[in-house]
Amino acid sequence: MKTIQLNIDKALGTVSKEQIFALRNKAENGMEQLHKGTGKGNDFLGWLNLPTEISEEHLSDLEKTAHNLKEKCEIVVVIGIGGSYLGAKAVIEGLSDSFAHLRKTHNNPIVLFAGQNIGEDYLYELQSLLKDRKFGIVVISKSGTTTEPAIAFRLLKEQLESQVGKEEAKQLIVAITDEKKGALRKLSETEGYKTFIIADNIGGRFSVLSPVGFLPIAIAGFDIRQLVTGAVKMEKDCGEDIPFEKNPAAIYAATRNALYQNGKKIEILVNFNPKLHFFSEWWKQLYGESEGKDHLGIFPASVDFTTDLHSMGQWIQDGERTIFETVLSVNEMQHKVIIPSDKDNLDGLNFLAGKRVDEVNKMAELGTQIAHVDGGVPNLKIEVPALNEYCLGQLIYFFEKACGISGYILGVNPFNQPGVEDYKRNMFALLDKPGYEEESKAIRAKI
Ligand code: PA5
Repeated sequence: MKTIQLNIDKALGTVSKEQIFALRNKAENGMEQLHKGTGKGNDFLGWLNLPTEISEEHLSDLEKTAHNLKEKCEIVVVIGIGGSYLGAKAVIEGLSDSFAHLRKTHNNPIVLFAGQNIGEDYLYELQSLLKDRKFGIVVISKSGTTTEPAIAFRLLKEQLESQVGKEEAKQLIVAITDEKKGALRKLSETEGYKTFIIADNIGGRFSVLSPVGFLPIAIAGFDIRQLVTGAVKMEKDCGEDIPFEKNPAAIYAATRNALYQNGKKIEILVNFNPKLHFFSEWWKQLYGESEGKDHLGIFPASVDFTTDLHSMGQWIQDGERTIFETVLSVNEMQHKVIIPSDKDNLDGLNFLAGKRVDEVNKMAELGTQIAHVDGGVPNLKIEVPALNEYCLGQLIYFFEKACGISGYILGVNPFNQPGVEDYKRNMFALLDKPGYEEESKAIRAKI
């Protein structure tokens, strides 16, 4: 089984090895702060040793619960937002057949998502799809009070109860939330739902390797044990005993900070595989919410190539030189498609006849790397042997660990998100939520 590989060679035209190694101490200190629990946000380090701490009993319970829902449901709606949504979505999209929803036969329920927006049409259309369908719900909210998932859950719970009856509905709802606090915990206990706990010391964006990610991923039919095995591998490879120069998480963290110090304020996560679109969304949350504070932090962006070479490609090649790219390069495709020869060759494509589609994609990738590096865009590359559970488990842990180190190099608390409260306060004030009377008056004066 193969391991993901980080290659920073094509960034070295912009930053030197010396500049990167100048951050060695900070990276090592960051690593030590993580492992000793002495840094900012040290009450949110439960993710750090999570892969090696996951018990057989816990995995079996998750698999059993997933099996139960799989037996009974054609569709399972996973309700959650932010860290209670993106990890599961990223892994399921990364591993799924691109057209799974349109195929006539399904071995596993279709996993759909709700509560990740407040789109009225989205919810209407989902409710109308679920009419007379056998569906179940996994509702995920650590705080148990987030508005978007709470609205979706209220609607779908009522619909499920009216379709199958209150007692049967209880067997089709699983809640993942805090052990003690929050409205969802209280509601689950009153109703008697099966629940899983999100540990107090694991923040939403670091929670994919917990029931938050595992249950939806298992329901979708994927092997959560392989995901854990991959994460364990990276936990070891990025461990505190691995020296800086051999530690991929530390090197990635130091390199992106060296680039940032050199004026590269935007990091674009690039993929050449459409299945990784939501992996980038997960990554953007991880880095954006962890580092964007105190008026600091690299802006995390993403593109899907070659699609976006026909849109954002111009900006990347030729726009303001404040960007660098981190490319997720998947080595092995799961399937083979050969470009056929055509006797008339009217499209002039016979020079590609006999080649695999992926050979063309790989040349597009190499050509893009050379063009962008020539154009002044430093390039980091992460080789991913294949898109499977084992490699995604590695990638997830690698990025989490690097994020913690990188946040400490930057000097911020990577584990809080005070900035996301501001919109909520205004929204509650505008909606006249009880307890927000003063804010309501103040905000109305601004309109
Ligand atoms: O990373 C985070 O902490 C956030 O993105 C949360 O996951 C998100 O706001 C959802 O919160 P909750 O799970 O409490 O509903």
